[in-house]
Parts: sequence; structure tokens; C-alpha cells
Amino acid sequence: MPAASTRFNTMWKGRFAQDTSSLVQQFGESITYDWRLFPHDIAGSIAHARAQMNAGLLTQEEFTSIEAGLRTIEADITEGRFEFKTSLEDIHMNIEAELTRRIGAAGAKLHTARSRNDQVATDTRLYCRTQIDKLLEATTLLQEALLERAEAHASTIIPGYTHLQRGQPVTVGHHLLAYVEMLERDKSRLHDCRQRLNVSPLGSGALAGSTINLNREAIAAELGFTGVTRNSMDAIADRDYIAELLFVIALTGAHLSRLSEDLILWCTAEFGFATLSDAHTTGSSLMPQKKNPDVCELTRGKTGRLVGNLMNLLVAIKGLPLTYNRDLQEDKPPLFDSVDTLTLTLAVNTEMIRAMEINSTTCLKAASDPMLLATDLADHLVKKGVPFRHAHELVGKAVAAAIATKTPLDQLDLAAIDPSYGPDAKDVFSLDRALKSRTNPGAPSVENILKEIEAWKNGRLRA
Ligand code: ARG
Repeated sequence: MPAASTRFNTMWKGRFAQDTSSLVQQFGESITYDWRLFPHDIAGSIAHARAQMNAGLLTQEEFTSIEAGLRTIEADITEGRFEFKTSLEDIHMNIEAELTRRIGAAGAKLHTARSRNDQVATDTRLYCRTQIDKLLEATTLLQEALLERAEAHASTIIPGYTHLQRGQPVTVGHHLLAYVEMLERDKSRLHDCRQRLNVSPLGSGALAGSTINLNREAIAAELGFTGVTRNSMDAIADRDYIAELLFVIALTGAHLSRLSEDLILWCTAEFGFATLSDAHTTGSSLMPQKKNPDVCELTRGKTGRLVGNLMNLLVAIKGLPLTYNRDLQEDKPPLFDSVDTLTLTLAVNTEMIRAMEINSTTCLKAASDPMLLATDLADHLVKKGVPFRHAHELVGKAVAAAIATKTPLDQLDLAAIDPSYGPDAKDVFSLDRALKSRTNPGAPSVENILKEIEAWKNGRLRA
């Protein structure tokens, strides 16, 4: 956290006769949060300085002293020894001013053919790229935790729900694999976003490039970019890549929020399908019996922030004329918040899922409601030549009779209701058989589920 300072900012003060008001400094500074860009700012500056040397603008000695100076600043920031100044507004000016203080004249040459506008665009792209790689890894770890639980409960039968009403039997494994699918799509979106953002804006200057031509491709290559941006105005104004990342983060949050909601239900006394460990639940200060799924609730709650951060950025950019406007500085708080929030959310959910117990007996009991096989009963009639709409009607009547006479559906004399049921209708009421016959790709036969798990474990999970 930077110390407050009233020192005059000398970096753009040439034409100004008055000091900047301290309220304006407080209002306009970004160093309290953009200090986190420092490793990227330093990498960008070193690549830029090397291009300056190669263009004959810096001697080898000057370059060497800039590079060494930047490395010592990097070490000082990393070790917490660096004193940030709000009077220097942002990370770019804090580093540059300190470099010049440390190494003298060469430091003052660094900003040649560069603006903070292409500099901040570069730093932010590098930051997003690094964070995307971390999010990909963290998401894969959560998928692995889900896969482990799915494998252990590939054949643990539960009701599958629509409208939160019992629908048809599935298994815990199948249910959890649905989340593995969602997260894999989220990773694929992260990969798309990474690929699109991975171009270098350096050389775009304030908005119109520069009269001093540095080798943009060489700078890009040094920073691991796959190429350079093609329009200096777009490069300065573009924050699409942040919006895309915030969207992917918000959508991942929405997926985790849905998972949370499932787990919250599963952990109620009413469902009882799952038990979270003591390490991942909290108690009540009043009700001694309580064990609350706070991690799930916070995951669900924090998703509001993730969606809000996306809205925050979209609203901030929607009315901006080309190119840079100071509004764009407001891109970073939502970006950092979303990245931090999702990073922690993924980690805590991974740990919680790994330790989650599934209560197989309770699951089976809930799935043993014969009503879950009403659709299978209609399918049985269809196989005997009854048109589906008619079969649906017949089974509906049977369901009504079961409810009216308080008789379980599988105990009714179905042949007495309609002869087309045949003597073998009772065989439908086997959960084992119901699952076994769901063999089409994507359906929850245990064999299918185990095959899916194998496929995920043997290469389908993208790094
Ligand atoms: N701190 C600024 C930001 O994050 C850096 C760019 C400032 N550019 C300018 N023309 N004032 O947007």
C-alpha cells in the first residue's frame, strides 16, 4: 500500500503553473491497485529498452543500466521494500521515476517512443495472460476433484430433477460430470480469450504510433506475444479482452453457483445426499446443532460480484470516444477483483469437493420412488406398439390411481388398468435395469459414466 505523498508530479508538469490539488491526486491515483502490474510493466520496459538500443537510441551501457535498475526495482517491490507514491499516480510513473532516481540520465530516455497508453495496454494484456494460465490450472484441479467424486459414485443412484421435482433416475457420477463439462467449456473460452489478447500494443504510442520506429515485432516476441496490434487507435482504446475475461469469469462463477445450489440442497436434512466436512462448514453462534454450507453460499453470493464487475466495465467503455480516456483506468478494480475472487473460489471449492461425502443409502432411498420410472413405463408401452402420446395418457392415469389409492406405482395392477401393459410391465420398476438401458452417448448408464471418466482422465481434460 503506497504512502501518501504530496510531492509534485514532475512527469507531465511542464505546462502547469499550479500544483495538482491533493483531492485530485487522491481521486486520480491508481497506484493503490495497479502496483500489481509491476512484473509486467518491468518486462515491457526491458523489451522496449532493448528495441531502443537496437535502434541506436541507447548505448549498450545505457541499456544494461536500465535493465539492472529495473531488476532491482522489481526485487524491491517483490520484497515489500519499495515505497510507492500516490503523487506519481500509477505503476508506470512510480517505476520510471525511481529508475531515473537510481540510474540517472539513461532512465530519462526510457519513455522515448512510448506512452503510458500503450504501456498500460501492454501491462494489462500480460497480466490477463498470466492470470488466464493460473485460472486454467485452478479450474482443472476442480475438475479433477469432481472426477474423483464422480468415479467413487459412478453407480450411486439419485433422482435427477426438473423444476426441482423428481424426474428420472441418474447417478451422482453423472450429475457431477455435468459440471466437469461446464468447466471444460469455460476453459475453452479462456483459451479463446488468451489467444485473441496475445498481441502487443507497444509502439502504438499515445494513439498514433511514433515518428521513432522501434522494431515492434521484436518487442512482441520478447514478451511472448504472437504478433502486434494492427491499428494504433484501436490498440489504445481496446478493452475487449478484459470484457471477455470478465465474462468468462462471470460465467464460470454462474456454473459454480449452480453447483453450490445443488450442494446446499444435497446437504439439507430433507435431501441428505451429501455431507460436507467440518473443515468446510461453519456453525451457528446460537443454534448448537447447525452445520452450515457457507462456502457454497458465498460462492453463490460472490457470483453477484463477478457479474457486477463485467457490467461495471461494459458501462464504463460504452460511451467512450476513441482513443484513451481516463475512464479506462477504471478497468482494473473490477478485473483484479474478478480474478482474485474466482481464483479463491476455485481453490476452496476444490478442497471442499475432495472432502465431500456422499450418503449412498439416502441417495438410493430417494431414487427408489417408483414414480421416477413413470417415463420408462410409457416407453415400455411404446415398445409394445402404443403411440407415445397414448402411452403418456395411460401412465398418467396409472399415476393418478396410485395417488388416489395411496398405492405405490409399482404395486398397482397395471394389466387391469389397460391390457396393453402386458404381464412384464412390473419389470420396468428396476432402477438397475432403468440405468442399464440408458446406453446412448450422454445417457447415464454406469458403463457410459465410467467410460466418460476414463476419457476425461486420459486426455480429454485440457490443460
Ligand atoms: N493509470 C493509467 C490507466 O490505468 C495509465 C494511463 C494514463 N494515460 C493518460 N493519458 N493519463 O489508465
